[in-house]
Amino acid sequence: MTLSRRAFLGRGAALAGAPALAIHGPAPARQDPKFASTTGRGFASDAIHAGEEDGMSVTSIHMAKNYKGSYQRPPSNPTVGAFEAKIRSLEGGEAAVSAPCGMSIITQALLTLLSPGDHLVAHRCLYDNIMGFLQGFLRRWGVEVAFVDMNDLDALRAALAAKNTKLVLFEPYVNPTMEVLDAPKIIALAREAEALTLVDNTWLTPWLFQPLRHGADLVMHSATKYIGGHGSAMGGVVAGKKDLIQKIKGTVGVMGGILRPMDAFLLTQGLKTLPLRMQRHGESALKVAKFLETHPKVERVRYGGLPGDPGHKVGSTYLSACGGMLGVEWKEAATHSRFPGRLKMCKPWVSLGDVVTLVSTRAEEPNRAIPARFTRVSIGLEDAGDIIADFRQALE
Ligand SMILES: Cc1ncc(COP(=O)(O)O)c(C=O)c1O
Repeated sequence: MTLSRRAFLGRGAALAGAPALAIHGPAPARQDPKFASTTGRGFASDAIHAGEEDGMSVTSIHMAKNYKGSYQRPPSNPTVGAFEAKIRSLEGGEAAVSAPCGMSIITQALLTLLSPGDHLVAHRCLYDNIMGFLQGFLRRWGVEVAFVDMNDLDALRAALAAKNTKLVLFEPYVNPTMEVLDAPKIIALAREAEALTLVDNTWLTPWLFQPLRHGADLVMHSATKYIGGHGSAMGGVVAGKKDLIQKIKGTVGVMGGILRPMDAFLLTQGLKTLPLRMQRHGESALKVAKFLETHPKVERVRYGGLPGDPGHKVGSTYLSACGGMLGVEWKEAATHSRFPGRLKMCKPWVSLGDVVTLVSTRAEEPNRAIPARFTRVSIGLEDAGDIIADFRQALE
């Protein structure tokens, strides 16, 4: 079974105003309906062919410090370039630049784009270390940071009206709360306010959402996650407008946060199967979410693909599926603390977007809307029945 947009919507018909199901006909859930190939090919074909070296079955790994005389910082390595070209093509960007991990690319991008006195508006919850960078480093260097609940578009409007805003930053599917934000509307509001938009698309990947097609200036990924997909490489990448990427590239050259060729090779190989993996992650996540919903020890499941989820309606306006991340609120603290340690096949490890199902326990943080007794689950590519069986036995 493939997770069709119909399945995500949880009903027979598309919502009024939602992208038409007819775009994809009976085809499996696929990319953002705004996807427009720059090559004339489909997403899956570009995932395989874009950026590849001519006449080679795989892009070569060039380890040389000097390539045809050029030094490798600022980045000019052809293996790294092939990875960036593939991302640029899949995200629909004019250019892309990479780094050794997601944190490296976002910190280098923010240091490029912001100056003391600038105002940044971010959703009240972002990936922990990004939030830490905003609250610590950026504030210390004189950048004003306003955290806003972007579920409330009036609150966002007010924050943008209150101050000249340089940059708006958010994740459409929020780590770890599983909120589904109205990304196209947030991007539109940021544009109205003449602010740049940087979207952290790590959780959805370009297969499910392509922020640049919706008017965002920049999109970034922790490529360590779904882009690589196999837990064997780390990387970060940002794509978007050429002039902005050129500036970020300049910073990468100075700061030295460059992606290494071996990682670029592994991430490129991972990208080739992204559509297949994302479909499977999504199908299995929906099955596991449905199982957990009916379990007596579960208070609430958070998964944007579930019809009862608070983010489902807004997600249905621009997403065809919700990927592999879900959250569980347990009824009892004892279940919360014991569940990860009782798993036999799935792993109680931090990280996500891997072939392996990964489970991580979270502490309550009301200011970020992280609920009590909450567990984050990254559904892997194992048989969904085996994931469910492992969860069931861990809950006995
Ligand atoms: C949404 C999101 N952005 C950025 C990062 C940072 O990426 P990395 O671990 O590759 O530095 C993560 C890591 O979990 C993430 O989940």
